Amino acid sequence: MSLEEIARRIRECMRCSLHLTRINAVPGEGNPKARIVFVGEAPGRNEDLQGRPFVGAAGKLLTELLGEIGLTRKDIFITNVVKCRPPNNRDPKPEEISACLPFLKKQLEIIDPDIIVALGRHSALTLLRLAGKEERSIMKVRGKVFEVELFGRRRKLIPTLHPAAVLYNPRLRPLLESDFKMLEEILLGDKRRKSSLEEWF
Ligand code: URA
Repeated sequence: MSLEEIARRIRECMRCSLHLTRINAVPGEGNPKARIVFVGEAPGRNEDLQGRPFVGAAGKLLTELLGEIGLTRKDIFITNVVKCRPPNNRDPKPEEISACLPFLKKQLEIIDPDIIVALGRHSALTLLRLAGKEERSIMKVRGKVFEVELFGRRRKLIPTLHPAAVLYNPRLRPLLESDFKMLEEILLGDKRRKSSLEEWF
């Protein structure tokens, strides 16, 4: 199955009641061959209106933070755990998360990224649970790199804060920035390893 086929199925999905209130489903977008996939929580108002992920204020901050570590949105793939907006931006319910999870799993299987960045509590705890790790607190897991076995191979899972949480409480910004710095270090380390291998062969 292709990413386009999954997006088509998401747009037609009626697996939970969120389809009754959505304007547009938001399958996700970006580089289909990305090494890094960012996973948010659920679309907000602007995303629902446009059918695209992270196009509101939180998206602007995300794009800015990516720029600070030399990445653009074209380098990565961005999606959400839940593909339709919960009314009034409430938290997604557990049954909505489980109804939607097969779409995220399929997207991650196809893109096959080395690194998954989970934005916010719902995304982080859901992805950690998929990897067999039960956690309860985003503050306890953020700032760490989890080497997990997901979809048949080892990958890095990096839980961090949701950009919207930083907009709500700007004192959290240094934590989010330091997690992005950590991601930059990982990418630079991989690059260095690659070029020293090229010297050998
Ligand atoms: N917040 C999210 O978690 N996802 C979006 O797409 C937008 C805001």
